[in-house]
Amino acid sequence: MQTLNSIDYGPLAGLIGVWSGNKGKDLSPEADGTTELNEYYETIVFTEAGETSNAEEEVLSAVQYTQKVQRISSDKVIHQEVGYWLWEQGTDNVIHSLTIPRGLCVLAGGKVVTKNATVFDVEASFDSEQWPITQSVFLQKKAMTKTFKQKMTLSGDKLQYSQHMLLEIYGNSFDHNDNSSLRRQP
Ligand code: HEM
Repeated sequence: MQTLNSIDYGPLAGLIGVWSGNKGKDLSPEADGTTELNEYYETIVFTEAGETSNAEEEVLSAVQYTQKVQRISSDKVIHQEVGYWLWEQGTDNVIHSLTIPRGLCVLAGGKVVTKNATVFDVEASFDSEQWPITQSVFLQKKAMTKTFKQKMTLSGDKLQYSQHMLLEIYGNSFDHNDNSSLRRQP
């Protein structure tokens, strides 16, 4: 049990802090059918968000975060994200809720496993009743995110993630994906 300020953050406790990395790789779609590789650096800040109970039954511990991603070659901000990671106390269930400023929200659910490292594995789908992706009318028509799958591995002062978003865009399916490794900042 890992407690901070008397709240049991369980597997989320090790996330709290400031993280940065400059080895990110993103694959994004181009209108002409080609793939764009973006090498990026980023900062993710996780802060304590306390504990909530639902229906006097489910107790969730929460950390909130902000993520800012910039292209190495130009410093342009190519991705921003805010959200929460939630852990259902007494279980191995985790929830990742996030929004990005394109008109899109994800509520992904899954499991956390702690052995040598702590591995969070979550997913969501546009047509799932349990773990849905909600997006604007424009995105639904022109750049739909059909699925979101994310694996995040925490090992001491190292944080890695790999995520895949299956997009329906420019008349094709595209695996928009990101891989990154970050270090905790002192
Ligand atoms: C490190 C994380 C991410 C990076 C670096 C990133 C980067 C990018 C880039 C460079 C584009 C192309 C923008 C353009 O051509 O104007 C893009 C498009 C897009 N991304 Fe991401 N993205 C990330 C995460 C996500 C996530 C988590 C989602 C959804 C859950 C998402 C959904 C989309 C969508 C729907 C588009 C629109 C397609 C387009 O216009 O090209 N991205 N992203």
